[in-house]
Amino acid sequence: MPRDPEIKEAAVVLECRGIVKRFGGVTAVDGISLEIRAGRVTAILGPSGSGKSTLLRCLNFLEVPDAGKVLFEGVEVHARDRALDGLRSRVGMVFQQFNLFPHMRVWENVALGPRVIRKVPREEARLLSLGLLERVGLSDKADAHPLELSGGQQQRAAIARALAMEPAALLFDEPTSALDPELTGEVLAVMRALAAEGMTMAVVTHEVAFARAVAHEVVLMDAGRVVERGPPSQVIDAPSNERAARFFSKPGA
Ligand SMILES: Nc1ncnc2c1ncn2[C@@H]1O[C@H](COP(=O)(O)OP(=O)(O)O)[C@@H](O)[C@H]1O
Ligand SMILES: [Mg+2]
Repeated sequence: MPRDPEIKEAAVVLECRGIVKRFGGVTAVDGISLEIRAGRVTAILGPSGSGKSTLLRCLNFLEVPDAGKVLFEGVEVHARDRALDGLRSRVGMVFQQFNLFPHMRVWENVALGPRVIRKVPREEARLLSLGLLERVGLSDKADAHPLELSGGQQQRAAIARALAMEPAALLFDEPTSALDPELTGEVLAVMRALAAEGMTMAVVTHEVAFARAVAHEVVLMDAGRVVERGPPSQVIDAPSNERAARFFSKPGA
């Protein structure tokens, strides 16, 4: 995939400035500023407990930050206002545990957002859903229930569900961490195809090889802070920072 080395030129879709989030005595996110740029993949890496999920959740207000700002398409978002509805409906999230509704068919899971939020009629939403399931390689599973699917298939259905809202950006929180290694590849392949089509994505992941191959920018977090950021060729392969060098020298990295 061609990657523009000038990562700073694309428009900023989603941005946070000086985000702080505390849980009791723990400062999970300690003053992070980040820009998610149009058509770019931002990979967020770091050890367990470094605040990656909390940062992602602050970006779409699943957690309300204690300090700092979130801007979506240049407009500051506050809890309980209309800008938040726009952010919620147009920034999709894909979770480690898929979070599909088990009692609904796969196509119904995908069609739910458009039907409820965008008031798309049932048949139109069904056709939209079938098209998206084809895109993630699940045409034959449209009428199945989620628990009849493998983890990799469930995660691909969850990606189709996020795409159904025609998102301005997609946020992924360790989308392959709950999967057996042989199922990880099929999910990463779908994500790689989305990236190649120009989808704006922020991806929390432990898949260093994926970040190296697909991300335009890598952000390394530790203890609630960004310790290094830049293109993968720099952050992963030639880190200037001692903490980053240690993280990427681990076996498997
Ligand atoms: N809801 C919560 N309540 C209390 N502590 C939390 C909560 N969510 C996260 N934390 C704490 O915040 C820190 C960062 O967690 P998290 O964002 O989940 O890190 P990561 O995703 O990098 O593993 C950890 O110390 C974690 O225990
Ligand atoms: Mg996490």
